[in-house]
Amino acid sequence: MSGGVALATDFGTFYPPNITPDNVHGIGFWSQTEFNHAMRHGISPDGDPYYPSFPYTSYTRMTDADLGDLKAYLDSLPAIGKATPEHDLGFPFNLRYGLHLWQWLNFTPETFLPNSHQSAAWNRGAYIVTGPGHCGECHSPRTLTMAMDTGVHLQGNEAGPDGEQVPGIDMSKRNQPWLLDDLLFAIQIGMTPDGDFFGGSMAEVVENTSQLTAADQHAIATYLANPEPPSNP
Ligand code: HEC
Repeated sequence: MSGGVALATDFGTFYPPNITPDNVHGIGFWSQTEFNHAMRHGISPDGDPYYPSFPYTSYTRMTDADLGDLKAYLDSLPAIGKATPEHDLGFPFNLRYGLHLWQWLNFTPETFLPNSHQSAAWNRGAYIVTGPGHCGECHSPRTLTMAMDTGVHLQGNEAGPDGEQVPGIDMSKRNQPWLLDDLLFAIQIGMTPDGDFFGGSMAEVVENTSQLTAADQHAIATYLANPEPPSNP
């Protein structure tokens, strides 16, 4: 959690910050309110907008309860006094105030609203996929202004992080949709129905999804069988 793993993009290289409780280099001095504001509104405690490489565009749907738990967990980690490099971005993307315009064009903070026509498992899956799991950040294509394109929610992205091609995971839109058990297997152990193992950034995602409860894994697979876009990107 001490940050600094380079994230290469078309705009330059981002260095995610240290989120350990260190008072100088980390976020140990943040209040719960400041933490929630960063996660759900994409604004730092100093009032600066964040680059959407920090996926607050998805985290915006997280509940108070989950953000409280998340901060409690981060606060329990050892504080690591390590500085992270400045982002290395080309002009004009290095001008942080330009992000006010980006947010105005592309982002409205949103609360997760369950769909009463769907099952509890589907709704739980929708919350995880569009909120904390931020699956659409890689699996949805981007618009011209680099917002997630909800018109083609989860239908694959030619230009994913580090130039990766990211497949579509809306199973209702695929010629050969995976069965529920295929999806479960994929998020539990990172294996495809052909017996291949995921590479690239999805291998890292599976390090996390493999640790979810069986009920949450089932919920994700239920939602992906027939997902609906959230009302906002
Ligand atoms: C950081 C980017 C990233 C995120 C976030 C991400 N994925 Fe992926 N995902 C990928 C990439 C890249 C692949 C292709 C991996 C490969 O082919 O080895 C992939 C592949 C998959 C596949 C296999 C699809 C196929 O046709 O092979 C599934 C299922 C999947 N992801 C589900 C998810 C779910 C569910 C989430 C959210 C919990 C998620 N992914 C979040 C990048 C991501």
